[in-house]
Amino acid sequence: MVRIYETDKLLSEYLLFHYGTHKDVLPDGTAWPAGMHDALDFAVRTARVFPGDDAASGLDLGCAVGRSTFEMARSCRHVVGIDFSETFIQAATTLRDGGSLTYHRLEEAAVHTPLAAFAPAGIDRGRVDFRHGDAMDLPADLGLFDRVHAANLLCRLPHPQRLLDRLPSLLWPGGHLVLATPCTWLAGFTPPSEWPVPDTRTWLTQSLSASFELLDTREEPFLIRETARKFQWSLSWVTHWRRR
Ligand SMILES: C[S@@+](CC[C@H](N)C(=O)[O-])C[C@H]1O[C@@H](n2cnc3c(N)ncnc32)[C@H](O)[C@@H]1O
Repeated sequence: MVRIYETDKLLSEYLLFHYGTHKDVLPDGTAWPAGMHDALDFAVRTARVFPGDDAASGLDLGCAVGRSTFEMARSCRHVVGIDFSETFIQAATTLRDGGSLTYHRLEEAAVHTPLAAFAPAGIDRGRVDFRHGDAMDLPADLGLFDRVHAANLLCRLPHPQRLLDRLPSLLWPGGHLVLATPCTWLAGFTPPSEWPVPDTRTWLTQSLSASFELLDTREEPFLIRETARKFQWSLSWVTHWRRR
């Protein structure tokens, strides 16, 4: 399994991606194209796909450093965030316990800017737990949830079908599932023999339709800043399902 999510580089990029203010990501003084502004706050937008009413329990798979997990806790009384990266889970837990975490934003070469990530305001952090785990091999006793969120995780798994097969047993009848994927299938993460056939949309629909009703789909852009002048702009296909 690829270990890039344990590196300091990815940790800094994801803390900025999830918790950076708009000016942390796109500092004043540059005429950033409008599409870059539109791609901010992805981890907040995917969590907002869920209904606004209160729910008992939520699960955020591939939670990284935890922003969507915190956002789900605005309406869920308990949310578990699970990620395979020990480094990300440690950072998310520090944010839960202390509310903040310092890190560095890479500008270029060896030039860095110190920044701080803050857990979002207005959320009871005691509602959130972070755990190290494998989304393809979740504990049998994990339980059932009212809401499950997995953003940009599927195409980072060696065996994504294992997660799709497990999803029905993670949700109560009537529970809501939000899956987002930019469909960036890469052999370094997923062997080509495991890539969707004939395409991601058909594969997801065929895998989930027996147990889930598709409520909505949307396109959500996201922006990951690597340096002051290098960004990844991607488009995630977000699907919202209800457990039958
Ligand atoms: C592309 S990132 C997306 C993170 C976050 N959901 C977001 O939308 O910003 C993929 C995440 O999946 C995690 N991941 C990769 N393989 C995993 C696995 N087998 N089980 C759980 N998490 C995994 C990585 O550590 C990383 O945090």
